[in-house]
Amino acid sequence: MVVAVHGIVLKGLKDFVTTEYDHEAWQAIQDGAGLEGKVYVPVTEYEDADVLGLVDAASAITGEEVPDLLDAFGRFLVPPLVETYGVHVDEDWTGLELVANVETYIHEALRAKQLSTYTPPALSSEWVGDDRVKVTYDSERELCPLAIGLLRGIESYYDETFEIEEETCMLDGDDECEILVASSVES
Ligand code: HEM
Repeated sequence: MVVAVHGIVLKGLKDFVTTEYDHEAWQAIQDGAGLEGKVYVPVTEYEDADVLGLVDAASAITGEEVPDLLDAFGRFLVPPLVETYGVHVDEDWTGLELVANVETYIHEALRAKQLSTYTPPALSSEWVGDDRVKVTYDSERELCPLAIGLLRGIESYYDETFEIEEETCMLDGDDECEILVASSVES
Protein backbone atom coordinates (compact mmCIF):
# COMPACT_ATOMS: atom_id res chain seq x y z
CA MET A 1 0.00 0.00 0.00
CA VAL A 2 1.66 3.25 -1.17
CA VAL A 3 1.14 5.86 1.56
CA ALA A 4 3.57 8.66 1.21
CA VAL A 5 5.70 10.59 -1.22
CA HIS A 6 9.14 11.98 -0.46
CA GLY A 7 9.62 15.68 0.25
CA ILE A 8 12.14 15.90 -2.63
CA VAL A 9 9.19 15.49 -5.04
CA LEU A 10 7.10 18.21 -3.35
CA LYS A 11 10.03 20.61 -3.00
CA GLY A 12 10.71 19.86 -6.68
CA LEU A 13 7.09 20.69 -7.50
CA LYS A 14 7.36 24.05 -5.71
CA ASP A 15 10.63 24.83 -7.53
CA PHE A 16 9.03 23.80 -10.84
CA VAL A 17 6.02 26.11 -10.32
CA THR A 18 8.05 29.08 -9.04
CA THR A 19 10.52 28.67 -11.97
CA GLU A 20 7.99 28.07 -14.77
CA TYR A 21 5.40 30.52 -13.30
CA ASP A 22 6.02 32.50 -10.08
CA HIS A 23 5.56 32.52 -6.30
CA GLU A 24 2.04 33.93 -6.55
CA ALA A 25 1.11 30.95 -8.73
CA TRP A 26 2.49 28.55 -6.07
CA GLN A 27 0.50 30.30 -3.33
CA ALA A 28 -2.66 30.19 -5.48
CA ILE A 29 -2.05 26.49 -6.18
CA GLN A 30 -1.56 25.71 -2.44
CA ASP A 31 -4.74 27.68 -1.64
CA GLY A 32 -6.58 25.83 -4.41
CA ALA A 33 -5.47 22.50 -2.90
CA GLY A 34 -6.38 23.58 0.65
CA LEU A 35 -2.69 23.40 1.66
CA GLU A 36 -2.15 27.10 2.38
CA GLY A 37 1.41 27.88 3.46
CA LYS A 38 2.44 24.24 3.95
CA VAL A 39 6.25 23.96 3.84
CA TYR A 40 7.85 20.94 2.15
CA VAL A 41 11.35 19.84 3.16
CA PRO A 42 13.25 17.19 1.12
CA VAL A 43 14.04 15.04 4.15
CA THR A 44 10.66 13.63 5.15
CA GLU A 45 7.51 12.22 3.59
CA TYR A 46 4.07 13.60 2.90
CA GLU A 47 0.68 12.24 1.89
CA ASP A 48 0.34 11.19 -1.74
CA ALA A 49 -2.85 13.26 -1.66
CA ASP A 50 -0.75 16.43 -1.35
CA VAL A 51 0.95 15.82 -4.74
CA LEU A 52 -2.26 14.84 -6.50
CA GLY A 53 -4.16 17.80 -4.96
CA LEU A 54 -1.42 20.29 -5.90
CA VAL A 55 -1.17 18.97 -9.46
CA ASP A 56 -4.95 19.19 -9.91
CA ALA A 57 -4.94 22.76 -8.52
CA ALA A 58 -1.99 23.63 -10.79
CA SER A 59 -3.98 22.40 -13.78
CA ALA A 60 -7.01 24.50 -12.77
CA ILE A 61 -4.87 27.62 -12.26
CA THR A 62 -2.47 27.32 -15.21
CA GLY A 63 -5.01 25.87 -17.65
CA GLU A 64 -2.53 23.11 -18.52
CA GLU A 65 -3.80 19.52 -18.67
CA VAL A 66 -2.55 17.30 -15.79
CA PRO A 67 -0.53 14.91 -18.08
CA ASP A 68 1.24 17.91 -19.70
CA LEU A 69 2.06 19.40 -16.28
CA LEU A 70 3.40 16.04 -15.00
CA ASP A 71 5.50 15.61 -18.18
CA ALA A 72 6.99 19.13 -17.80
CA PHE A 73 7.55 18.52 -14.06
CA GLY A 74 9.36 15.24 -14.83
CA ARG A 75 11.72 17.00 -17.27
CA PHE A 76 12.40 19.72 -14.67
CA LEU A 77 13.07 17.16 -11.89
CA VAL A 78 15.94 15.26 -13.58
CA PRO A 79 18.83 17.69 -12.93
CA PRO A 80 18.10 17.99 -9.16
CA LEU A 81 17.52 14.21 -8.91
CA VAL A 82 20.81 13.39 -10.70
CA GLU A 83 22.65 16.01 -8.63
CA THR A 84 21.09 14.93 -5.29
CA TYR A 85 21.49 11.20 -5.87
CA GLY A 86 24.60 11.39 -8.09
CA VAL A 87 26.41 8.92 -5.82
CA HIS A 88 24.16 6.21 -7.28
CA VAL A 89 24.75 7.31 -10.90
CA ASP A 90 27.80 5.84 -12.69
CA GLU A 91 29.51 8.72 -14.56
CA ASP A 92 30.32 6.37 -17.44
CA TRP A 93 26.65 5.61 -18.14
CA THR A 94 24.90 6.95 -21.19
CA GLY A 95 21.39 8.29 -20.69
CA LEU A 96 19.91 5.03 -21.96
CA GLU A 97 22.10 3.03 -19.55
CA LEU A 98 20.79 5.23 -16.71
CA VAL A 99 17.23 4.35 -17.77
CA ALA A 100 18.14 0.65 -17.80
CA ASN A 101 19.79 0.89 -14.37
CA VAL A 102 17.38 3.17 -12.47
CA GLU A 103 15.55 0.43 -10.60
CA THR A 104 18.55 -1.71 -9.63
CA TYR A 105 21.03 1.07 -8.78
CA ILE A 106 18.88 4.04 -7.79
CA HIS A 107 15.27 3.34 -6.76
CA GLU A 108 16.30 0.15 -4.95
CA ALA A 109 19.26 1.92 -3.26
CA LEU A 110 16.92 4.62 -1.98
CA ARG A 111 14.50 2.04 -0.58
CA ALA A 112 17.40 0.17 1.04
CA LYS A 113 18.75 3.23 2.87
CA GLN A 114 18.70 2.97 6.65
CA LEU A 115 15.35 4.23 8.02
CA SER A 116 14.40 4.95 4.42
CA THR A 117 11.29 7.05 3.81
CA TYR A 118 11.54 6.60 0.05
CA THR A 119 8.82 4.77 -1.89
CA PRO A 120 9.87 5.12 -5.54
CA PRO A 121 7.96 2.90 -7.94
CA ALA A 122 9.31 -0.60 -8.60
CA LEU A 123 10.21 -0.27 -12.26
CA SER A 124 11.42 -3.17 -14.37
CA SER A 125 13.77 -2.34 -17.21
CA GLU A 126 15.09 -4.74 -19.82
CA TRP A 127 17.32 -4.29 -22.86
CA VAL A 128 15.31 -5.29 -25.93
CA GLY A 129 18.08 -4.32 -28.38
CA ASP A 130 21.51 -2.66 -28.37
CA ASP A 131 19.84 0.75 -28.51
CA ARG A 132 16.50 0.19 -26.78
CA VAL A 133 15.17 -0.47 -23.28
CA LYS A 134 11.63 -1.44 -22.27
CA VAL A 135 10.56 0.10 -18.93
CA THR A 136 7.52 -1.35 -17.15
CA TYR A 137 5.78 0.91 -14.63
CA ASP A 138 2.83 -0.30 -12.52
CA SER A 139 2.73 2.04 -9.50
CA GLU A 140 -0.68 2.59 -7.86
CA ARG A 141 0.02 6.31 -8.26
CA GLU A 142 -0.48 5.93 -12.05
CA LEU A 143 1.91 8.85 -12.73
CA CYS A 144 3.18 7.54 -16.08
CA PRO A 145 3.15 11.08 -17.61
CA LEU A 146 5.71 11.95 -14.88
CA ALA A 147 7.73 8.83 -15.78
CA ILE A 148 7.79 9.88 -19.46
CA GLY A 149 8.77 13.43 -18.42
CA LEU A 150 11.65 11.98 -16.36
CA LEU A 151 12.77 9.98 -19.43
CA ARG A 152 12.63 13.16 -21.55
CA GLY A 153 14.60 14.95 -18.84
CA ILE A 154 17.32 12.28 -18.97
CA GLU A 155 17.36 12.57 -22.79
CA SER A 156 18.18 16.30 -22.61
CA TYR A 157 20.45 16.01 -19.54
CA TYR A 158 22.62 13.52 -21.49
CA ASP A 159 22.13 15.35 -24.78
CA GLU A 160 20.85 12.17 -26.43
CA THR A 161 17.86 11.59 -28.73
CA PHE A 162 15.20 9.21 -27.44
CA GLU A 163 12.21 7.77 -29.24
CA ILE A 164 9.69 7.05 -26.48
CA GLU A 165 6.59 4.96 -27.12
CA GLU A 166 4.08 3.93 -24.46
CA GLU A 167 2.87 0.56 -25.77
CA THR A 168 0.39 -0.11 -22.93
CA CYS A 169 -0.92 2.31 -20.30
CA MET A 170 -2.78 1.99 -16.98
CA LEU A 171 -4.64 5.23 -17.79
CA ASP A 172 -6.12 3.32 -20.77
CA GLY A 173 -7.13 0.45 -18.50
CA ASP A 174 -4.06 -1.75 -19.00
CA ASP A 175 -2.48 -3.53 -16.01
CA GLU A 176 0.81 -1.68 -16.43
CA CYS A 177 2.55 0.93 -18.54
CA GLU A 178 5.11 -0.52 -20.96
CA ILE A 179 7.37 2.25 -22.21
CA LEU A 180 9.84 1.57 -25.03
CA VAL A 181 12.84 3.92 -25.05
CA ALA A 182 15.09 3.82 -28.12
CA SER A 183 18.22 5.94 -28.33
CA SER A 184 19.80 7.01 -31.58
CA VAL A 185 23.17 7.55 -29.78
CA GLU A 186 25.59 4.55 -29.98
CA SER A 187 25.82 3.16 -26.41
C1 HEM B 1 18.44 9.94 -11.87
C2 HEM B 1 17.55 9.03 -11.90
C3 HEM B 1 16.44 8.92 -10.87
C4 HEM B 1 16.42 9.19 -9.53
C5 HEM B 1 17.56 9.71 -8.66
C6 HEM B 1 15.08 8.86 -9.05
C7 HEM B 1 14.67 9.01 -7.73
C8 HEM B 1 13.32 9.02 -7.36
C9 HEM B 1 12.84 9.48 -6.06
C10 HEM B 1 13.70 9.98 -4.89
C11 HEM B 1 11.48 9.41 -6.10
C12 HEM B 1 10.50 9.79 -4.96
C13 HEM B 1 10.16 8.57 -4.18
C14 HEM B 1 9.25 8.87 -3.02
O1 HEM B 1 8.35 9.67 -3.19
O2 HEM B 1 9.48 8.31 -1.94
C15 HEM B 1 11.11 8.90 -7.40
C16 HEM B 1 9.81 8.75 -7.81
C17 HEM B 1 9.48 8.35 -9.07
N1 HEM B 1 10.35 7.86 -10.04
FE1 HEM B 1 12.36 7.94 -10.01
N2 HEM B 1 14.31 8.42 -10.09
C18 HEM B 1 15.09 8.43 -11.22
C19 HEM B 1 14.76 8.07 -12.50
C20 HEM B 1 13.50 7.64 -12.84
C21 HEM B 1 13.12 7.22 -14.18
C22 HEM B 1 14.05 7.13 -15.39
C23 HEM B 1 11.81 6.92 -14.13
C24 HEM B 1 10.89 6.46 -15.23
C25 HEM B 1 11.01 5.51 -16.00
C26 HEM B 1 11.35 7.16 -12.77
C27 HEM B 1 10.04 7.03 -12.34
C28 HEM B 1 9.59 7.55 -11.14
C29 HEM B 1 8.16 7.85 -10.87
C30 HEM B 1 7.00 7.69 -11.85
C31 HEM B 1 8.10 8.37 -9.58
C32 HEM B 1 6.83 8.91 -8.82
C33 HEM B 1 6.28 7.99 -7.83
C34 HEM B 1 5.38 6.87 -8.37
O3 HEM B 1 4.91 6.98 -9.49
O4 HEM B 1 5.12 5.91 -7.65
N3 HEM B 1 12.41 7.59 -12.00
N4 HEM B 1 12.25 8.65 -8.15
